[in-house]
Amino acid sequence: MISDKTIQEVLQRIDIVEVIGEFVNLKRSGSNYKGLCPFHKEKTPSFVVSPSKQIFKCFGCGASGSAISFLMKHEHFTYPEAIRWLAKKYNIEIEETEDDEESRQKRQERESIFTVNTFAQKYFTHNLFFEDEGISVGLGYLRHRGFRDEIIEKFQLGYALNQRDGFTQHAIKQGYKLDTLSKAGLTIIKETNYFDRFWARVIFPIHSLTGQIIGFAGRILDKDKSPAKYLNSPETEVFQKRKILYGLYFAKKSITQEKKCYLVEGYTDVLSFHQAGIENTVASLGTSLTEDHVNLIHRFTDNLTLIFDGDSAGIKAAMRGIDIALKEDLNLKVVLLPNGEDPDSFSKKNAPADVREYIETHEQDFITFKAGFLLQDNADDPYKRSEAIRNMAKTLAVVSDPVRREIFIKRAAEVFGISSDSLASEVMRIYKSNITQLSRGKVSTHTPDRKTPVLPSTIQTTALPEEKELIEYLLRYGNRIYEERQTESGEKVPITVADFIITELTNENLEFKNLFYKEVFEEIKKLREQGKDFDIKYFQSHPDQRFQELANELLANDYEISRIWEKRGGEATHPHEHYKEFTLSALLSYKLRIVSLEIGRLGKLQQVPADNLEMAVDIEDRYKKLYAIQQELQKIKRELFGEHRIILPNAGL
Ligand code: CTP
Ligand code: MN
Repeated sequence: MISDKTIQEVLQRIDIVEVIGEFVNLKRSGSNYKGLCPFHKEKTPSFVVSPSKQIFKCFGCGASGSAISFLMKHEHFTYPEAIRWLAKKYNIEIEETEDDEESRQKRQERESIFTVNTFAQKYFTHNLFFEDEGISVGLGYLRHRGFRDEIIEKFQLGYALNQRDGFTQHAIKQGYKLDTLSKAGLTIIKETNYFDRFWARVIFPIHSLTGQIIGFAGRILDKDKSPAKYLNSPETEVFQKRKILYGLYFAKKSITQEKKCYLVEGYTDVLSFHQAGIENTVASLGTSLTEDHVNLIHRFTDNLTLIFDGDSAGIKAAMRGIDIALKEDLNLKVVLLPNGEDPDSFSKKNAPADVREYIETHEQDFITFKAGFLLQDNADDPYKRSEAIRNMAKTLAVVSDPVRREIFIKRAAEVFGISSDSLASEVMRIYKSNITQLSRGKVSTHTPDRKTPVLPSTIQTTALPEEKELIEYLLRYGNRIYEERQTESGEKVPITVADFIITELTNENLEFKNLFYKEVFEEIKKLREQGKDFDIKYFQSHPDQRFQELANELLANDYEISRIWEKRGGEATHPHEHYKEFTLSALLSYKLRIVSLEIGRLGKLQQVPADNLEMAVDIEDRYKKLYAIQQELQKIKRELFGEHRIILPNAGL
């Protein structure tokens, strides 16, 4: 973490005109500066920067804020990212507060990988433009394929010579350590020997969102040298394929302006589209679309258009991953290129304006496209047809917004030529049968790999009644199976109630305010980390008397619950059989409570006139985000449990 001292130092040094001047061409106008707004398209400047107030405001689209909020909006930085960027700009050394050795080492490792990657990129680029082999083989190839030097330079392409350890030798001579080279994935160490990972390949550096080089792809030119056309850096501290989109660093500005992102399949497709001036184009790194990719795109736009080659080979594979984009409520469109063309070949054969026109006129919404695709070869076979309809229904069931879902159902029903009622009921059937699965996805305000929690974990409050409920369920039902999850290898692993609650709370950094419950929670967490099961008896014989009392209280409650249940007689299932619903309901209520408390606090803050525009913008932003989460949680709760809160008959006695 960045120390307060550094943050203060950075804040004092900021000159908003200097900062925004790096992204917008500003001209003096009286005591202010003016330029074309980067947040919407305009021909006459209505974007004003005030050095005296240290704020910007656009009179066209209403965007406004401080230098920091400019960076957050324009570069899509988080607050700490913005501070780091500014510190670099002003040559301020960042003081880190973390005392934790592990995270310090990780950070150092990341930084040394960035440094050596930059060094490698310069070396490869030098080869491409200045070494005989690079010029004749590498540059010759790229030029022959129709890439102009500007685009080759912009994307910092390079060439790895036909030598097994040329790069590593050079790097060591320049003082880089073998260990760092290996951690960056540039050098492969085998016993006492070492080799370059990339040799005899055209090199495509892969950039982070802020333009740092996080890894490489290398394309082989001579197929006899290796069967793999493309080779990537291995997964490192800074390079995780499933989280990276090739070209995003160069595309992000255009994506925001065009309010749309094009996703193509390959590196060369990205290059060709950028060369044709279609700069809002990115590609995954040869993997299918992941949730991380979708979230990344969603930071910039709601509109994603997939561009497929005309032949349907890639489409089938792509189709599987695509429900993810729908689930995240992206507006998904598809463009099919003419048969035999990929974005690279198509944009080289046609003028940029024609490529654009083709894309715009051939864009189909995803639902219509998928319905048509499923029907393609199956129109006459009733079995295959109903299989296709079920497949479609599965896709529709992931759309969470009921209005959108209904529109999609109508459209898909038309394509299939069936009544939208029957399709709707099939969708609802799947929706319900998935309910635990689905509700998990929803109650998680958190996606598996996101580092930043969404819920406020630092709220000032006393113990909440929901905490007690969660602890009770943890003790009672902790070992029961909440659900099965599929691992990446396709294996199904059971998730216990304890694991479910623990993951949900730790992902959000939520901590119990009641110190005793916090202790209980921490102990259970530790047990699970060690792979140990526990039950209420474990706590009954716990060395700490308070734990024993808690366990006994619950057992007494259970006795009471069973008595009530027997007295009512009519009910088929014992309340404890509903443990999944209880757990889910308690978790939802807990999260809702936390969100509502923070919304209340922010609401009050908004009523006080803020002396600082940036702060006001931040508060409003946060308020809006939490409000949306609150609505979502409430909706889920209603869909699952109606208007009622479900609790054990005498829970909390
Ligand atoms: N890919 C990969 N490894 C391979 C083949 C493909 O990682 N051995 C990934 C790359 O990200 C590649 C994408 O899949 O960009 C699409 O593959 P392909 O269409 O074969 O490559 P192009 O990008 O079209 O490359 P080129 O035009 O140079 O043949
Ligand atoms: Mn290609």
